Amino acid sequence: MSEQSLDADLCVTDCERCPALAASRSRIVNGVGPADADLVFVGEAPGANEDSEGEPFVGRSGTVLDDALRDAGLARADVRITNCVRCRPPDNRDPKADELANCRGYLAEELARVDPELVVTLGKVPSQHLLDRSVAVTTENGELFDARVGDTSVRLLVCLHPAATLYDRSQADAFEETIGRAAELAGLADGSAGGQSSLGDY
Ligand code: URA
Repeated sequence: MSEQSLDADLCVTDCERCPALAASRSRIVNGVGPADADLVFVGEAPGANEDSEGEPFVGRSGTVLDDALRDAGLARADVRITNCVRCRPPDNRDPKADELANCRGYLAEELARVDPELVVTLGKVPSQHLLDRSVAVTTENGELFDARVGDTSVRLLVCLHPAATLYDRSQADAFEETIGRAAELAGLADGSAGGQSSLGDY
């Protein structure tokens, strides 16, 4: 299968499973990045910027994530970035249990097809959703677990949400360390993904 058709298969083009979200969204925000990425980041749900631009993590949280990726020797284009829920919950509220459940199959399908070395959950909501238990993200940040999403087994690294570093600067070092660990665990820490290493070409 070509990279393009695989990528199209990873996209949800129409969904009305959550009528309230379908009515309020501007668009469905699908995951971005290579369809064969070794490293997949899973966030909670699109916010206002993501809903308007159609891409996960493009607001301030996205800048924090991009900066930490760069410090770890990676470019955003080297990794896949997606969310538990693909439609923006209004007023930046957390996704509800039924919304997470309605969208879970899409994430399971995405992870099964991409088959990454490592999944990094950004924040409490995705960590709890994929580990199916309560998670204290500040204490479990940087810890590695096995998880099952649908029929797929994944290695999962719990990580603080990038926005946590904006509210509490003391969390920035811990966040950056975990992103660096993620790059190592996914086998990308030597720049083999072609991110920063390719900057030398310019
Ligand atoms: N926060 C998330 O969890 N996901 C996004 O896409 C943006 C911010």
